[in-house]
Amino acid sequence: MRPPAVPAIDRVLFTEAQVHARVKEVAAQISEHYRNGNLKLIGVLKGSVFFLTALARELDIPVKVDFLAISSFSNHSGAPGVVRIAKDLDDSIEGEDVLLVEDIVDTGFTARYLLQTLAGRGPNSIALCTLLDRKPRRIVSLNVAFTCFEIPDRFVIGCGLDYKQLYRNLGYIAVMQP
Ligand code: IMP
Ligand code: MG
Repeated sequence: MRPPAVPAIDRVLFTEAQVHARVKEVAAQISEHYRNGNLKLIGVLKGSVFFLTALARELDIPVKVDFLAISSFSNHSGAPGVVRIAKDLDDSIEGEDVLLVEDIVDTGFTARYLLQTLAGRGPNSIALCTLLDRKPRRIVSLNVAFTCFEIPDRFVIGCGLDYKQLYRNLGYIAVMQP
């Protein structure tokens, strides 16, 4: 593992090797589940891009990829609950098996909003996959079909997760100093 490029790191939660191994395991589950399906991964910009590409590389089934962007006040420091689509998908999802790919499910407001919105567009199926699940902060109940790691109630960076738009490119997941 490369040395921390970030002075504000408290501790590394999952090393790059651990992340890679776990992503491979979850990708195998997803490949099995959608073997006879029509899978489309939908990434939420910008945080889930890093996880989505790592996951997609490990799938052994055909897959389409599309992205949307949201503006949200439901981050760790803000008031939760207000989400809207700032950049929509390029293509229709009608008849497709949609897997919404998130970096982290925290309160759950973002994922619930997106799942409800996309479900209204006639996909064959829709499910949620996340790199991180921080269950202690969940406000709305959600079914997360595929989870890489559950984490405690601490702010984390790396693998797509940012602090003020920085540190998304770290290969490991780290807890920031309070
Ligand atoms: P939710 O709607 O509360 O589930 O919000 C999830 C969103 O908040 C994620 O997509 C992240 O953009 C952001 N977020 C929540 N926790 C963290 C964290 O620990 N580090 C970085 N971003 C976070
Ligand atoms: Mg963010």
